[in-house]
Amino acid sequence: TFVVGENCINCKHTDCVEVCPVDCFYEGPNFLVIHPDECIDCALCEPECPVNAIFSEDELPDDQQDFLEINAELAEKWPNITEMKDAPDDAEDWDGVAGKRDKLVR
Ligand code: SF4
Ligand code: F3S
Repeated sequence: TFVVGENCINCKHTDCVEVCPVDCFYEGPNFLVIHPDECIDCALCEPECPVNAIFSEDELPDDQQDFLEINAELAEKWPNITEMKDAPDDAEDWDGVAGKRDKLVR
């Protein structure tokens, strides 16, 4: 499966959702997740993210392993998203900011 990692938090550009052939992105207040049981590993979304927040499970950095569980859990809870929307006004300011996992709104 592919996994949305920490750098999506507060950036949420949503370019990723437009290319997914199985519509398996789910939207929370300031983060998106991929449903691991629905993702078909096509890899189309990964290059679409302007802040490089999407990883294949195999390439997920060691310090973001907890995002596997976060994606699985929140994909069951949040609504599906299939159309791109405007990013938050301050999205640029959050790109690459460390410790953003503490800002995740569930
Ligand atoms: Fe969707 Fe493909 Fe990305 Fe999986 S890898 S979330 S199927 S676009
Ligand atoms: Fe997040 Fe990147 Fe998609 S910032 S919403 S994973 S395009």
